[in-house]
Amino acid sequence: MNAPFVSPIQDLLDDLHARLIEQRAGEVATYIPELGKADPEWFGLAVATLDGTVYEAGDSRVPFTIQSVSKPFVYALALQDRGLPDVLKQVGVEPTGDAFNAVRLEPYTGRPYNPMVNAGAIVTSTLVGGDTYEERRERILSGLSAFAGRELVVDHKVMDSEAATGDRNRALAYLMHGAGTLTCDVEESLRLYFEQCAALVTTTDLAVMTATLAGGGINPLTGETVVSVEAAAHALTVMATCGTYDYAGEWLVRAGLPAKSGVSGGLIAALPSQLGLGLFSPRLDPRGNSVRGVAACEELSQRFGLHLM
Ligand code: DON
Repeated sequence: MNAPFVSPIQDLLDDLHARLIEQRAGEVATYIPELGKADPEWFGLAVATLDGTVYEAGDSRVPFTIQSVSKPFVYALALQDRGLPDVLKQVGVEPTGDAFNAVRLEPYTGRPYNPMVNAGAIVTSTLVGGDTYEERRERILSGLSAFAGRELVVDHKVMDSEAATGDRNRALAYLMHGAGTLTCDVEESLRLYFEQCAALVTTTDLAVMTATLAGGGINPLTGETVVSVEAAAHALTVMATCGTYDYAGEWLVRAGLPAKSGVSGGLIAALPSQLGLGLFSPRLDPRGNSVRGVAACEELSQRFGLHLM
């Protein structure tokens, strides 16, 4: 009798999990005190294809706060609601080669460099549709939920923990308010951004959310059009150039895919028109990227020839 069929994708996810779980380099982020409670051993992997198939391994159903992985999705929502020309007036699209929390704005324009660094993401949160803080808050949470294909909730402990310690983001927000690129109330803007970062997701959610971007804005599980083809393409483009901060260049050479990382240990990568990858492991390298996540993604890309160039 033939051995039962195991998809090569599932096979590789299981194999990567077994091998990379032994990799213990990197530290859990503690600058947001609540994040320091994460189990450093958590390791989840997931792949969602555009036909709606989801492959997963390890701790793929453990919830964690999305943090910076939210940024491309909220950018896509802002593009959908305001259009590229208006969004570009307030947030640029140039890579910085700097850390995610660098205190640096474009000379002359006062714009944050791009929507993937903290400064740019704080402004981007205020650009989604809605006239009030409450309306924008609802738009972000329901938008992220539509990307995931299920209702997401916020971890208020993590949100409050960041609000209590987020002086660097607060400084950035005041700087941008002074420069005229953050036009909403500073404390409300920060609250919106901290709340977005504290949305709870699983690795499987990340794969489905990323497959939605890869699929031109259509969620492969629900069939819902979440954002336009153009908004999804622009978000993927900025992920490619800026998604892993001061590792973005080397990342693109090695993995060759648009990607985004976050300090809770999440990492996404997209193969346009094909699939979305979700990885989660809280041990981070000094640039704030998940050590196991980066290793798994680079290997997946090499083994399946996903490099776009
Ligand atoms: O603003 C912050 O510092 C966090 N809420 C998110 C930063 C983040 O995830 C950076 N990613 N590597």
